[in-house]
This record gives sequence, C-alpha cells and structure tokens, in this order.
Amino acid sequence: MNPAIPSQKKGPFLTDIEEIRRRAREHIETGAVTLDYKGDLKTVLRVLNEALATELVCVLRYKRHHYMAKGIHSQAVAEEFLQHANEEQGHADQIAERITQLDGAPNFSPQGMLTRSHSEYVEGEPLLDMIREDLVAERVAVESYSEIIRYLGDNDPTSKRMMEAILANEEEHADDMKTLLETIGQEEKQRER
Ligand SMILES: [Fe+2]
Ligand SMILES: [Fe+2]
Repeated sequence: MNPAIPSQKKGPFLTDIEEIRRRAREHIETGAVTLDYKGDLKTVLRVLNEALATELVCVLRYKRHHYMAKGIHSQAVAEEFLQHANEEQGHADQIAERITQLDGAPNFSPQGMLTRSHSEYVEGEPLLDMIREDLVAERVAVESYSEIIRYLGDNDPTSKRMMEAILANEEEHADDMKTLLETIGQEEKQRER
C-alpha cells in the first residue's frame, strides 16, 4: 500500500461506508427514515398531510363539476374535469405513499379536511364559474406547492422531487382551465349576440 494515501481517506462528502452500514442497522423500525434524514420530520409530515388534503378536496370538487357539467350537456368539459379528478387522485396516492415511507400516517379523515387543505371546495354554477373556481384552486396549489418545495430544500430530496413533479402537473391543470375559460367564455358571448 502506498503510505502516502491513508486507507481511511474520506472524500469531501462521502461518509465512511462502515459508518453508513452501522447507522442503517440502528432504528431499523423507522424504515426509509435514517439518522441522516435532514428534514424536521414532524413538520414535513404535517406539510405533506396538508398537500394530501388539498389533493382530496380537488378530487371531490372536480368530481362534482364532472357530474354537473355532464348534466348540462358539456361533454368535452365534463371529460376534462374527470381527467383532472383522476390525476388529483394519483397525486393523493403518491403523497400518502410517501407519508408512510416517512413512518407517518396519511390523514384521510373528512373531519377538518377543508381546514388542512390549501384549496377550497366551491361548487360553482354555471359552467364558467366551475372552471373559474378550478383555475383558482390550481393557482392556490401551484403557489403552496412551490412553497413546500422551497421548504423541503435539500433536506428531503425524495419528497421534494415528488412535489416538483406534482407541481408541474398542477401548472398544466391551471393552463387547461385558463384555455377552457377563454373558449367557453367566447362561446357564451357569441350565443348572447
Ligand atoms: Fe393535484
Ligand atoms: Fe390540479
């Protein structure tokens, strides 16, 4: 062995593998949460549960809008609402999954859901109001998820990546609603003439 190179030399950010192995065996009951977890777990779980409530409220609102729009023969808009409802459900599932990975419990209780949620449940009527309310809710999600992502920073890269992917999807949703608002708005104006 070359004596000039110490055998225990550590790189600038690589911890000794033996140390990582030792720590991984400690507190094995906490699963994916290791001693190296940098986040404030309690706050991260609270914030993720708020995002979960936000998604669940969005599912309910889009479902209501889907069935109401179907009733007023706006099939294309109804389909768009349904697609969003399903995507919000997908987000809710991802967030719930991550909460359990972090050794927390996803809160699906209807009690207090609206208080935990950042977005609102507004029924809206006629169609244009539904779309407007959905656009508002998406804008709320975009802003609050951006804040969650900034909060997570480098402390929990997995939750951060998940929220970034969800955020990108919410931005698409907002854009879809903006386009619908313009199209339906124009159609209604033409009908009035
Ligand atoms: Fe969502
Ligand atoms: Fe959305």
